[in-house]
Amino acid sequence: MKVPFLDLQAQYREVKKDVNSALRRIFRRSDFILGEEERLFEREFARYCGRKFGIGVNSGTDALILSLRAMGIGAGDEVIVPAFTFIATASSVSLAGATPVFVDVDEQTLNIDAGRIERALTKKTRAVIPVHLFGQPADMIPLLKIARKHNLKVIEDAAQAHGALYYEGGKGKARGAGRKTGSMGDAGCFSFYPTKNLGGAGDGGMIVLDDERLYQRLIMLRDNGRKSRYEHRIIGYNSRLDTLQAAVLGSKLKRLDAWNDRRRICARMYTDLLQDISGVNVFDESDYARHVYHIYCMRTPDRDGLVGHLKKNGVGVMVHYPIPLHLQEAYRFLGYKRGDFPAAEKAAKEIISLPMHPFLKNSQIRFVVSLIKQYATAGGVHAR
Ligand SMILES: Cc1ncc(COP(=O)(O)O)c(C=O)c1O
Repeated sequence: MKVPFLDLQAQYREVKKDVNSALRRIFRRSDFILGEEERLFEREFARYCGRKFGIGVNSGTDALILSLRAMGIGAGDEVIVPAFTFIATASSVSLAGATPVFVDVDEQTLNIDAGRIERALTKKTRAVIPVHLFGQPADMIPLLKIARKHNLKVIEDAAQAHGALYYEGGKGKARGAGRKTGSMGDAGCFSFYPTKNLGGAGDGGMIVLDDERLYQRLIMLRDNGRKSRYEHRIIGYNSRLDTLQAAVLGSKLKRLDAWNDRRRICARMYTDLLQDISGVNVFDESDYARHVYHIYCMRTPDRDGLVGHLKKNGVGVMVHYPIPLHLQEAYRFLGYKRGDFPAAEKAAKEIISLPMHPFLKNSQIRFVVSLIKQYATAGGVHAR
């Protein structure tokens, strides 16, 4: 049996009718740049996130860069980011002219450890970028408290967490409706890279927020600093979300909750089946979270051996991420060294991402787990 890591063709089969007719509509109108469907999707996605405004941009990376720039963060400033995430969380800070300052992650959630943020603050710190890694919200309440205390901006990197929820009181307690990722900081940044829970047919991204002044600035920043067609107030970028992409994304947004529900069912099944395999550690969903499982990961000390075994047997697995950011060559100049962030380094060594998408079949999940069990029984994965 083949189990691909992702199945974008199956997704297309489900949305084909809507997507094709949306594309035909756009070609008929030919309003390719900031057209009607782009504005409509901005409104719909902002509403979905519980925000007043949405600004469609070229990518998740640009969403982060433009948010930083719109907040006036740049040269001479420092921004706190987790040491374990996709590099764009940090490179966007560098590209805005500021310096990323890494903080270790929590070993259980792999999200930024809020308890370590204050130690990393200096007079230059202007913002924190929590990442809702793999689809699970970072623990926002303690982080927002620290940000408030030190007058820091909070930019949520929600590139992997469309539709995830954060419950203030924890799940078991008197929890409210929960807050969507992207709705808790000063700005929420999303990527619509094709493999994301909500992904386009190419690159795309969005910033969602409530502050009208910031919104007006971002509208100009993403469009050559335009106030009107040939009147440029500020030096801006060309970073607009294509109308074609917005139309594709709008068709998929209607299905996002159902797709996330299916991801959650698949994750539950993996976790139940993997629970008792010696040498395998699963990650539990945090008490405060509605995880949307952009990535389903587990950890094992013999990661590379297990990856080889699964690949050999037709299972698409990946490692997110094999090198933590402070050890990336691109960031060597910052002077971090091995041992600085033990939880990030341990995750980078032990983590493995199993196939996860809404079209995964129960039989495929059982097959993947049977291979893991087979490897463990043969002595491949060491005891916990
Ligand atoms: C956590 C995180 N931040 C930022 C990005 C950047 O998004 P994009 O690839 O759309 O630029 C990604 C996605 O790839 C991501 O996973």
